[in-house]
Amino acid sequence: MIPQTTNQGFVMTEAGTPGVAYGLRGVTVDDTRICKIIGEEGRLYYYGYNILELAERCTYEEVVWLLLHGKLPNKTELAQITKDLKDARGLPFGVRDVIKSAPKTSIPMDVLRTAASALALTDPAPNDNSPEGIVRKAIRLIAQFPEIVAMDYRLRRGEEPVAPNPELDHAANFLYMLHGKAPGKDAARTMDVALVLHAEHSFNASTFTARVIAATLSDMYSAITGAIGALKGPLHGGANEGVIMTLLEIREPANIKPWLEKKFQDKGFRLMGFGHAVYKTLDPRAIVLKKYSKKTGEERGTTKWYEMSDQIEGIMKGREKPLYPNVDFYSASTYYMMGLPPEIYTPIFAVSRVVGWCAHVIEQQAHNKLIRPAANYIGEVDKPFVPMDQR
Ligand code: CMC
Repeated sequence: MIPQTTNQGFVMTEAGTPGVAYGLRGVTVDDTRICKIIGEEGRLYYYGYNILELAERCTYEEVVWLLLHGKLPNKTELAQITKDLKDARGLPFGVRDVIKSAPKTSIPMDVLRTAASALALTDPAPNDNSPEGIVRKAIRLIAQFPEIVAMDYRLRRGEEPVAPNPELDHAANFLYMLHGKAPGKDAARTMDVALVLHAEHSFNASTFTARVIAATLSDMYSAITGAIGALKGPLHGGANEGVIMTLLEIREPANIKPWLEKKFQDKGFRLMGFGHAVYKTLDPRAIVLKKYSKKTGEERGTTKWYEMSDQIEGIMKGREKPLYPNVDFYSASTYYMMGLPPEIYTPIFAVSRVVGWCAHVIEQQAHNKLIRPAANYIGEVDKPFVPMDQR
């Protein structure tokens, strides 16, 4: 019998039972209360709240509280998390030295991964997995990621790092540390919305990586460092950088069709920012970011990148096998028009997603089971050992 692949990714065994689930598609590995995705309908919820409403009505700080505590903060709690995040700012000297010593040729995601790991060495209690200890580490990581990314960005450009501004909230302060001046209201809100949208997405590759590490009862820093490594890949968070490189390569609207036709002659070609392992329709985050791409283009007096993105979306939807934009597609043109360089788009994703990773580490360790899947061994067994002089 020829093995059959189902649309869930399973290969059926000869007995007709599910066998290998390539890419773990369709395999449920744990319970979670943090996030729900309804892929067929393009719906996403953080702790039961629809992402469209959170993006419109919440700040990133509110979402941080929601993801770490499972409920929306009241006024006192919001003031508390805002203060805690501000108090946890200020990169330790050891971590600053790590960033300063990175070769100028290194990729920003590699610097972020190394600096996140170094944060453990400057924490007096990195292995404290008590409920208070783990939340304290989460807040420290969330507070310090923007500073790591901004410091690395400025050093690469030969500019002095900018200290955090205690007057500014998380998103505005991030832009302030990148550009060295306080952002306007629109730019600050756009970054805030982008951070809300990227904060959490269930058992995706980087989050699952964090949970696998957390499930060994290792520490928060190890889990987050591993997650950064997974996010970096172009099939995951690295796609947003790929999207802008695509737009820049296409250059003009007139080139879109011939460019796509040529690329799709190669069967293995992947258009960055399209397709999703869970959504089979439009990613709701792309709906929001599309509006911000248009709005940012209008504010900056250049809607070309938005219009090109819109045209590409139309072409991809009209294909025999339609493909829809994911979160990375319209974030790319939005960031580009905000004056941000492509190499920090994936680090921006991490600046936001770190809270989702932390929430999953907390949930995993609260009801832990070591994650240890089985493998379908396809090699031989009991081979006769060959002594060295006979090989
Ligand atoms: N460009 C061209 N073809 C695609 C694409 C794409 N972006 N995405 C899927 N396909 C095709 C694929 O070639 C395959 O065709 P066929 O059935 O003829 O072989 C079919 O669609 C199904 O693809 P798949 O790889 O089985 O689907 P998947 O669910 O494993 O892939 C994905 C998900 C995200 C890896 C894929 O869509 C992709 O490579 N996209 C481009 C990279 C990207 O934008 N990643 C960001 C994901 S969202 C943000 C995040 O959470 O990281």
